[in-house]
This record gives sequence, C-alpha cells and structure tokens, in this order.
Amino acid sequence: MLVLHGPNLNLLGVREPEIYGRTTLAEVDRGLIDRGKVAGLDVSAYQSNHEGELVDRIQQAGRERVDFMLVNAGAYTHTSVALRDALSAVDIPFIEVHLSNVFARDRFRHHSYLSDIAVGVVCGLGPGSYRAALDFVISTVLPASTAGA
Ligand code: DQA
Repeated sequence: MLVLHGPNLNLLGVREPEIYGRTTLAEVDRGLIDRGKVAGLDVSAYQSNHEGELVDRIQQAGRERVDFMLVNAGAYTHTSVALRDALSAVDIPFIEVHLSNVFARDRFRHHSYLSDIAVGVVCGLGPGSYRAALDFVISTVLPASTAGA
C-alpha cells in the first residue's frame, strides 16, 4: 500500500500547528509503516510539493500494481484535475485523507476533485485520519484481497 502526501505536508509539525498539530510527517509515516508491518501489510510513503511528481508517482504505482492508496493531496485536492485523471487512469482504490476538517474551514476547501472517485474520505482527526484509513484497509480490504490465497 502506498501513502501519498501532497504539497506542504513535509512541513507537518511546524506548519500552522493549531490546525495540523505537532506530529511530523516522518512520525506519521513511521506510525503507518509500523502498524502495517504488524498486520502483514507493506506500507510505503511518498511526499512531493510538485503536482507532476505526484502524477508520476501515481502512474508508477499503476505499473507496480499497488493494491491500495491513502491520498492526502493537500491543496491539490481542491485544484487538480491532473491528479484526479491520474488516479482514474491507474484505477487503484484509494481513501482521501485530510488531517484537518476541511468542511469547517474556507469554502474553497469544501470542494474536492478526488472525493467522488475515492472509496471514502477521512478528515478532521489529525494523524488519526491516516490511522483510521489504514485500519479500514487492514480490517476490510486486506482480508478480502487475501481470501482464498
Ligand atoms: C489538508 C487540507 C487542505 O485543504 C490543505 O491545503 C492542506 C492539508 C489536510 O490534511 O488537512 O495542505 O489536505
């Protein structure tokens, strides 16, 4: 499983901590990787501030036949047709994740180019948004994909 982080998420821990908290991106990733390991799920993470690099990484995930993704596209959530097209193209199921409750914030954050093609959306739980999404994958997606194996 791949966790994809968009622009400015490399600044987690120092960026607007009253909104995003004090946990760093490295700590978020470590927590997900460790939790995945316990469940027998290989988790890798990628962050970029560049839209095209995120598109490239999504296309690469398609070639690698990644089974599932957690996607926090940051501000590109609200702007990027290119990321939406890339996610549609690879057809890898994904959960849209946000640390903050985007619906309790600026109106321009209420619209997402990704939500209607996502399996689901988790927001507002801080790093717990990623954890809740991962727990869904572990409890629901993983057993189904290994059933009969
Ligand atoms: C965010 C919410 C976005 O609106 C914002 O642009 C981000 C982070 C979140 O995780 O809460 O960069 O995706």
